[in-house]
Order: sequence, then C-alpha cells, then structure tokens
Amino acid sequence: MPGQCVIGLQWGDEAKGKLVDILTEGKDLVVRYQGGANAGHTVVIGDEVYKLHHIPSGIINSGVLNLITPGVVINPPTILEEIESLLPRGIDVFKRMKLSQRAHVVMPWHTLEDRMWNQLVSGEDNIGTTLRGIGPCYADKVGRSFAIRLGDLIQPSFPDRVREIVRVKTKILAAASGGEAETLDAEKIITEYTDYGERLRPMIDDTTRILLDAVDADKNILFEGAQGSLLDIDHGTFPFVTSSNASGTGISTGSGVPGNWIKTIIGVCKTYATRVGGGPFPTELNNETGQHIRDLGNEYGTTTGRPRRCGWFDAVAVRYTARLSGITSFTLTMLDVLCELDEIEVCVAYDLDGKEIDYFPGNIDELKRVKPIYKKFPGWKQDVTGARSLDDLPTAAIEYAHELEKLIGRPIEFISVGPDRAQTIHVEEGTTLKDYLKGRS
Ligand code: IMP
Repeated sequence: MPGQCVIGLQWGDEAKGKLVDILTEGKDLVVRYQGGANAGHTVVIGDEVYKLHHIPSGIINSGVLNLITPGVVINPPTILEEIESLLPRGIDVFKRMKLSQRAHVVMPWHTLEDRMWNQLVSGEDNIGTTLRGIGPCYADKVGRSFAIRLGDLIQPSFPDRVREIVRVKTKILAAASGGEAETLDAEKIITEYTDYGERLRPMIDDTTRILLDAVDADKNILFEGAQGSLLDIDHGTFPFVTSSNASGTGISTGSGVPGNWIKTIIGVCKTYATRVGGGPFPTELNNETGQHIRDLGNEYGTTTGRPRRCGWFDAVAVRYTARLSGITSFTLTMLDVLCELDEIEVCVAYDLDGKEIDYFPGNIDELKRVKPIYKKFPGWKQDVTGARSLDDLPTAAIEYAHELEKLIGRPIEFISVGPDRAQTIHVEEGTTLKDYLKGRS
C-alpha cells in the first residue's frame, strides 16, 4: 500500500491539520517529518478543538501510531506540555507516539539566538521568525559540532556535551550582543533536560527502522507536512523561509522513507493567500478586502497569534509548488471565507519589469518587483458552511474552484467549507468538476 502525503502549497496555515485528521481514518501510521514547534495545526471534531504544534494530527485517532522522525526539531518542554494537555482528554500519547532518537533538540541557546538574530536584522530584511529557535537548531544540525539529538539526552555523555557547547555559545552570544546576552547556566540546563529526557524516554526510538518495517509490511502510512512549499529552505522564497524542506521534496529526507515509494501527494491551498512574517507577497491586499478576509477567516497565527497578511489566490505560485511537490490532487480550503465578496480576483501571471511571465521567479529581488496580473471572477454571495456535497454549492463557487484546477493543472479532491471535520466535500474518484458543471447546466 503506497504512502499518502499532505503538503501545504502556499506559505503555511492552509488548514492541513483538518485534512490529515480526515485521512487518518484507516491509517496505521501518521508521520511528522520536518519543522518543529513553529507549526500550528488545529483539528476540530464537534465541540472539541485540538491545537497541536509538535504532535502529529493523527494522535486523536486511537489505533494509529504517530512518528516524529529525524527531520523534525523537537523542543522538549513544548512537546511535554502538549502531551500533558492531551492525557486528561483520554489520549494516551505514550502508547500512540514514537520520537526519533535522531531528531535534533531545540536547546535554550537556540531560542536566545533566534531572538538575537531577529533583533540584529531590521526592516524589510527581517524574516520575522516564530522565535521558536528553529533556524539556529537546524543551523547547528548542519554545522554538526554543537548539535544535540534527542537520543543524546538519555546518554551518560550528555552533561559534558552541554558544558562544552555552553562554553562556546556563551562566547558567541556575548560577542553578538556586545556583552548583554542572557547567561546560560550549564548545570541548570543539564538538570532540566535530563529530566525531560527521562520523561520522553518511553517514546524515544529508532523511527527510521519502524517506518521501513512498516513499508515492508505494506502498512497504510500518512505523511503530514508542516508549513508550506513556499517556505521550503531550498525551493521557497529564500531567505524568507523556514529552515526545513517544507515542500514535497522533504518527505524522504525528513522521514527516511524511500522517495519512489510515495505515490499520492495531496496539496492543500486556501481559496486566497496568507503569509506570516516578512518577505515578498505579490498578491497582498493592504486594504479593506484584506481585512475582511482576515476577519472572516480568523487569520491570526496558531503559534504566535500574529495577524496574517492576506491577499488574492496566486495561481503562478501554486502552479509552481504543485509541480515542485509532485501533487496528484489538491484540497481547496476556506471556500466559506469568500462568500460575501462581489468579485474575486486570481493572479494568473506576473509583470516583471514590463514583461509578462508565467513562472515563479527564483530570485527574491525579482519576486519583490513582480506585479500580479489578475483575472476576475463573480462571487457566489451565499453561505456555504452547510454544504456537504457539490450539489449544495452555488455554481459560481464550483466554477471558481474549477478555474483554479485549470490554472494549477491538477484535480480537486476535497473542498473545505468550515473548520469542522464534517464541513468537507469529497469529490469522489471518477467525478470531475468539469463534468459536474456540464451536468448542472
Ligand atoms: P521559523 O520557522 O520560526 O524560522 O520562521 C521562518 C518563517 O516561516 C517566518 O516567516 C514564519 O512566520 C514562517 N513560519 C514558520 N512556521 C510557520 C507555520 O507553521 N505557518 C506559517 N508560517 C510559518
């Protein structure tokens, strides 16, 4: 049974958690393979709301084993807090989750560094990170000499390793801050993180082996991407990106599953676009319409509470990420949010220095200069939150969705009309929006 993956096609926050929750039904394993506590996934089931940062969205379903694999950076106090919030709700996380011994640990110096680098870079160049220490932790992973992996927390060499790293980091932080950096207390860190290691010990395992065994045993596996493809460290809007491979390119490296084993990748995008933090956003709406979308879509960060920047759907960007991530179909979320607008615009090409282009520029200065070329669509002006099948949707809404299919070049598989699991329309295999629309007219 080939693996199935869920990948964000924009700048994150595409409401992937809900789709993962739906697709978890019938799965044996759910795998989180990149990113860290910078992610925020909300799952709503009836009256129950689960806000997850670290733990895979599959945790809510009993009978599913959730893996956090080597490509993730783990923040022990944050994950423990999340575990403790789930236990009283009847979710036995210790039985349902395994953490890779190879995953890197976000240590206190990483959050200090994130804050410091953020203060040192001002204005337009500021990445506007989530300040969760993600970039500095991945930097130490690649740099190797000062990295700590989860399995190291429970090894006898851990205290000496912390003392050595604190000695070096203290010098770096003092130099960067002109001597004003918060001091790092090695002995306090050793005591705290040894305790975290002990509490996490029952879950620390070799997830690569578990995953490869599951592949050999033909298990049903779902891979849950965090952030979005445009935030990919190699292929996104660098340097305004996160520090992991947030596009489909990261599934294999982050989890350990062979790349050729994955056959189904479902991209997720909103009917409009949002972005948190700095960086170019060609279709951004700094006007009433942008505020209207923010209010109706409750576009405020799950992790940081920051208001998200809102804009029109950018089909040039999503066509790029759909191809990059190798998606086989996609899910359109937040269809309900556009329901009050008279007209909806979609960016179909860019003007770059007076020339029309249909590709997403790889250079950040060029991306800053592009001007969107829009196509207008009539709004549907109808509440769609109660829709449960295509029959319940207004024709203008299906036509809009079908236009996006044509622009992106992939079929729609799900349409989401609200946060609840039930507020989802499944476009059954064998049905196409094109044929459906023909049948309606
Ligand atoms: P970092 O991942 O904290 O280093 O932040 C780098 C950039 O990615 C910033 O612009 C963040 O706002 C953005 N980012 C990180 N995680 C998420 C996410 O889960 N959703 C949306 N944006 C994110």
